[in-house]
Amino acid sequence: NAAIDDATPEVLSIGGVTVTELAEQYGTPLYVYDEVGLRRQIRRFTEGLRERWPNSEVLFASKSFPAVGMYRLAQEEGLSVDVAGGGELQMALAAGVDPARIHMHGNAKTDAELAMALEAGIDTIIVDNADELDRLERLLPQHTGARASMPQQLLLRVIPGVAAKTHASQATGGAESKFGLPLDQAAEAIARMRAHPLMDFAGVHLHIGSQILDVAQFAEAVSKLSNVTDDVSGGTAFRTYDVGGGLGVKYTTTDDAPSVDAYLDAIVAAAREHLHPDARLLIEPGRSLVARAGVTLYRVTSVKRTGRTFVAVDGGLADQMDAALTGQRFEAVLANRLADDWSESVQLVGRQCESGDLLVDGAPMPEANVGDLVVLATTGAYGYTLANNYNGALKPAIVFVGDGGSRLVARRETYADLLATHEPSIGSTV
Ligand code: LLP
Repeated sequence: NAAIDDATPEVLSIGGVTVTELAEQYGTPLYVYDEVGLRRQIRRFTEGLRERWPNSEVLFASKSFPAVGMYRLAQEEGLSVDVAGGGELQMALAAGVDPARIHMHGNAKTDAELAMALEAGIDTIIVDNADELDRLERLLPQHTGARASMPQQLLLRVIPGVAAKTHASQATGGAESKFGLPLDQAAEAIARMRAHPLMDFAGVHLHIGSQILDVAQFAEAVSKLSNVTDDVSGGTAFRTYDVGGGLGVKYTTTDDAPSVDAYLDAIVAAAREHLHPDARLLIEPGRSLVARAGVTLYRVTSVKRTGRTFVAVDGGLADQMDAALTGQRFEAVLANRLADDWSESVQLVGRQCESGDLLVDGAPMPEANVGDLVVLATTGAYGYTLANNYNGALKPAIVFVGDGGSRLVARRETYADLLATHEPSIGSTV
């Protein structure tokens, strides 16, 4: 159809910048984020939750996209931040995030990480287990941070016993979870925190999993919180409830995902029914904040026709783990040839030495040529997070685009970076 063809631009633009410009300026593979879309999505959460439950806070689950520039943007947009461990804490602090807006997670926090959190004076530590309370009992009297000798605010992570309908590696709220304590062991841990003069027990935390598409599961998890027994308060009178993250997103045109409003409606309705009306309500979205704002830009390195057509790109499993790890399905476009007919169904593959390094199984595409540009959509969450050096791959750069401009948020790794941790380059740091 000539009319449609005329209207279709040949080259994809993101935030007003063409992918050909981005590839030339920054190289490929490249993580590209639409900054305007990212900020808009964050506001859906912050404004939506504040309207429904004013005594509330949205924490960015920073594991979904741990880049210093993203921590800064999160703080600018009024998000607090959750970090899982010392590395994410260092990045948040380097970005200038106010420690009073940082919460720390982890089922295996070390003394060094807890000490770092205490020295920094972060707002809340989410306690996972009794051994962590032992560590805190030792460390709390010792630290010299700005809030030394003041009680540290703590939440207790509990296992609500909700088996989230998602990939097994993304389900964290079922009875067999390694994260948190079962409801019937919560009272003892809470009693310990209440009794300690340097511990300020504020309430409970749960997180049932990731990429959850049925909002009723969040409501069910919130309802379980009223079963957390506490000899002192009688259960529903905690000051704070953090109901975690996990809202699923639409990855492909045929997927269906709940809206942010539907998600907030579900958890707030459940909170109204089961929690104390004066309680502080916290949520920790990661994926649903960032996934759809990000794409990955690749260049085609070879096209092979051997029964199937294999279009291979200059990245793969090393920068996009989720296709292999969780079976996540993605969609791709030949981004410099948008107006061409999709005449083929191809195997879009990466360059790592695994047959499972398959980015898209059966991607409709024009007949691709070496040098064409491929955009893999909806890769803004857990893509950069899980990037690794498999086959000596260099972690790609990150750029934010918007209003016709682009800015570098993280540079591409170099071969010197790769060698820096190995002999003979290693210095004295262990
Ligand atoms: N809070 C806690 C305690 C979490 O463990 C997580 C994610 C979140 C919040 C954020 O969940 P989200 O809103 O992003 O679903 N490797 C997997 C994802 C693992 C998610 C881990 N925890 C993947 O790449 O799909």
